[in-house]
Amino acid sequence: MTSIADLGFSKGIIVETIVSTYNADGQANAAPMGAIMTSPQHIILRIYVSSLTYKNLQSKRCAVVNVTSDPEVFYRTAFKEANLEGRVPQEWLAKAETVDAPRLRTADAFIEVAVADIRPFDAERAEAVCEVKLVQASSVLPKAYCRALSATIEAIIHATRVKAFVTHADKQKREQALKLLETIKECNAVVNRVAPNSRYSEIMADLNQRIDSWRAKGESLR
Ligand SMILES: Cc1cc2nc3c(=O)[nH]c(=O)nc-3n(C[C@H](O)[C@H](O)[C@H](O)COP(=O)(O)O)c2cc1C
Repeated sequence: MTSIADLGFSKGIIVETIVSTYNADGQANAAPMGAIMTSPQHIILRIYVSSLTYKNLQSKRCAVVNVTSDPEVFYRTAFKEANLEGRVPQEWLAKAETVDAPRLRTADAFIEVAVADIRPFDAERAEAVCEVKLVQASSVLPKAYCRALSATIEAIIHATRVKAFVTHADKQKREQALKLLETIKECNAVVNRVAPNSRYSEIMADLNQRIDSWRAKGESLR
């Protein structure tokens, strides 16, 4: 039987996954989330309490932790506004087998989990302790490593914080957003050097446009 340790999970290491859940109205949602294995049967998620995923985990007490390296999935689940309907495409998701949550059809592996505990972690985040109920992996072919993949995902994660901080009342948070923008610029340079005219560079261009619009909004508030 496949263990999460076979999927790149390792004690104390954060791996980046897509966590899918059902909203109260039955719609499927998904968002990129870091996941930490504490034992082969347990995964910890640290989630901003402002997120919909947090709300859904609290009410449904289960989720699917999807393993993928598709940058498109990371982008369009992190920024729902990047989708035509302003939400994760419902056809991307299908009902899981053992829990009341959806799974991402294109994922390389699914981990169905039940929430054993959900408790405060810091001022902005909660920690959900998840118990592994089912692990299923597909037999994907090996993929040659491309730096554009990690640079794009790195830029997307920083951009989620820029979005939250750029219009923040706290000056320190706004300054943090400016620092993150510098890191995103470096990621952008890597992507355009190793993968110009690719889906990676298209995602970066779209992300940069989005960032410009948040910054314009931030400036108009000052
Ligand atoms: C690679 C990556 C990892 C992320 N990890 C986390 C995380 O561990 N916890 C968290 O709360 N948000 C994390 N985020 C940000 C959320 O995915 C983002 O805020 C998202 O919009 C939340 O969506 P939701 O409101 O539908 O839950 C991550 C984003 C990316 C791109």
